[in-house]
Amino acid sequence: METLKNGAVLFNERDAEPLWKVWLRDAHSPVEAIRLAEESATSHLDQGAEVAEVIVSGRPRWVRFHDYPTIFTTPGLYEKLFYERLGCQSPTIVAESLTRLLEQQGMPPSRIRLLDVGAGNGMVGEEMRARGVREIVGLDVLTEAKQATERDRPGLYDDYLVTDLTNMDEAQARALRSRRFNCMTMVAAMGVKEILKGVLVNAIDVLDTPAWVAFTVRVDLLDPEHPGRLSEVLSVLERDGVLQPYVYWRYLHRYLVNGDSVDYALIVAKKVAHARAAA
Ligand SMILES: C[S@@+](CC[C@H](N)C(=O)[O-])C[C@H]1O[C@@H](n2cnc3c(N)ncnc32)[C@H](O)[C@@H]1O
Repeated sequence: METLKNGAVLFNERDAEPLWKVWLRDAHSPVEAIRLAEESATSHLDQGAEVAEVIVSGRPRWVRFHDYPTIFTTPGLYEKLFYERLGCQSPTIVAESLTRLLEQQGMPPSRIRLLDVGAGNGMVGEEMRARGVREIVGLDVLTEAKQATERDRPGLYDDYLVTDLTNMDEAQARALRSRRFNCMTMVAAMGVKEILKGVLVNAIDVLDTPAWVAFTVRVDLLDPEHPGRLSEVLSVLERDGVLQPYVYWRYLHRYLVNGDSVDYALIVAKKVAHARAAA
């Protein structure tokens, strides 16, 4: 492990080489250079305002960091920008922590039926599959995310659904429930907008009971005073006997372009009752 300036730990090759590194070595990415615009974020609250100039197949262009449709459309850009340049380590941390915890709880990876929410181009699914998880369904609101996964990590997911988890109809929810997921990952996919639209409750609702729930969120969103009220949602789920918390771990998600760190919390909880029945 390597300790970073804020005291967080970074996985390195001696622990478990993140699979994106292996993937990038063999990939034929057209991304030749990335120049970070360091003045584009002055604090973690500016994350969405970050931009970089990227050279793709000899042509320069500007990319806004939260423009995922554009980023996923260029092979290797997501990996080079967020992982190689900005030290993102969430998928490795979540996969390692979650599978270790579940082993301790008597659930080996081979018994996990995983729903990977906000699956993006498959970086969490890839880490979970490498640890022995056999059944994984990805879900993302973007068609570009699914296409990027099929292009870069073909066959990784057993199925990949393009749907908005904050706005599903009952037929979609029923179809998800019929898969009897006993585990869910939602990594770096929950901002204030998604929280306010009930993404976490909707995700928990389609899981089997019992099931393991692992998600990451920027730490400030857990502040009881934050207008997203995530902390209240979690308290209610716990009070109503829906979720039992197991792990809270603060870690370095990635750096901003100005070098500051963006801290996230990994929360792992067990769904022990259905929310509607408990309400
Ligand atoms: C920062 S990316 C993270 C991708 C992947 N989990 C990872 O760690 O590399 C966030 C992903 O969440 C997806 N997302 C955001 N809101 C969503 C929603 N309401 N329903 C489904 N997916 C959503 C985005 O489209 C995007 O692909």
